[in-house]
Amino acid sequence: MTTRRMKLLNPGPVTMTQRVRRALGAEDVCHREPEFAALTARVREKLAAVYGAPGYAAVLIGGSGTSAVEAMLALVPHAGAAGSKKSLVVANGVYGERMAAMLRAQGKPHEVISSGWTGAMDLAAVEKALATGTYGHVLAVHHETTTGRLNDVAALGAICTKTSVPMLLDAVSSFAGEDIRFEEWNLEALAATANKCVHGAPGVSFVLARKDALTRPTGATSVYLDLMKHAAEQAKGSAPFTMPTHVMFAFDEALSELEESGGWTARHAAYVARSAAVRAAVRELGAPLLLDDEVAYGAILTSFRLPQGKTYEALHAALKQDGFVIYAGQGNFDGAIFRIAVMGDLDPHDQDRLVSSLRRALA
Ligand SMILES: Cc1ncc(COP(=O)(O)O)c(C=O)c1O
Repeated sequence: MTTRRMKLLNPGPVTMTQRVRRALGAEDVCHREPEFAALTARVREKLAAVYGAPGYAAVLIGGSGTSAVEAMLALVPHAGAAGSKKSLVVANGVYGERMAAMLRAQGKPHEVISSGWTGAMDLAAVEKALATGTYGHVLAVHHETTTGRLNDVAALGAICTKTSVPMLLDAVSSFAGEDIRFEEWNLEALAATANKCVHGAPGVSFVLARKDALTRPTGATSVYLDLMKHAAEQAKGSAPFTMPTHVMFAFDEALSELEESGGWTARHAAYVARSAAVRAAVRELGAPLLLDDEVAYGAILTSFRLPQGKTYEALHAALKQDGFVIYAGQGNFDGAIFRIAVMGDLDPHDQDRLVSSLRRALA
């Protein structure tokens, strides 16, 4: 029997299952006690097992996905450090641009290859740039949530492998929902969060990094987001700062639920089916896809242009009345598009209700 809880179709935080929500009510624990160390160790192991990446260690950070992305950039050496090289950011949306802003804030030299927010990554330009041998890292976004585009990180990874340039990947909205090849893509690390495709609660995020990279001198420019410090403390069963303890219990439960329900492949298949149903219904109602080609989208989110005469506010309000929260466009897309994500605890009945609700709202 489906409850009439509000269903979140924004790209995280997602609607949690009752099982995960219940875990938030776990006992109070101190983050410096052995029971919390055991919980942390369990969560770290489960994270490394999602894709079976034995050469990688998970480092947990108390904070949203952005904190994990920013902490990951501690793997980029300080400007002027021995052997340091500039980074190459491949951007086609808010989150690629945000990584460039982080490097700027950290005073680390970088260049950006941008293809606008509706374009695919410019891989020819990347290949040309990396052939110069002057770049130390490539930074990219896997699923660019600005539009729902699933970037061709396999092709980017092939270039990174060929040129021996390690990649740092923002996988905040794709981890556990899309295919990720750690070794094949020459990933030095990725950053992600508990409250998107893993279906946990917001408040904890993580970096999965090559174990040997975590023992290098830190490139952190922040006390809190020093990835190497978090890694060293967590390896000893400790934590440098207070952790969101209850959110960690929920994360542990969400990771168990993910594994028991068939892992990332099953979750991906469920998202594909949900997004296909949403796309078919919405397009039929006269709202075209934002991106030119449906195959550009990943499984997780679809962006649509608002049909003539419809405002985002009216559409949002009508859907919310029926129990669904959709998402606006960012930046230049504000007022021109709407986005529907399909992560979280949604069942076939929710899906049918959503399609009916969209029909009423867009008719
Ligand atoms: C691809 C991507 N990167 C980074 C972030 C930032 O995550 P947060 O809002 O949890 O800080 C998001 C959030 O939607 C995202 O989709």
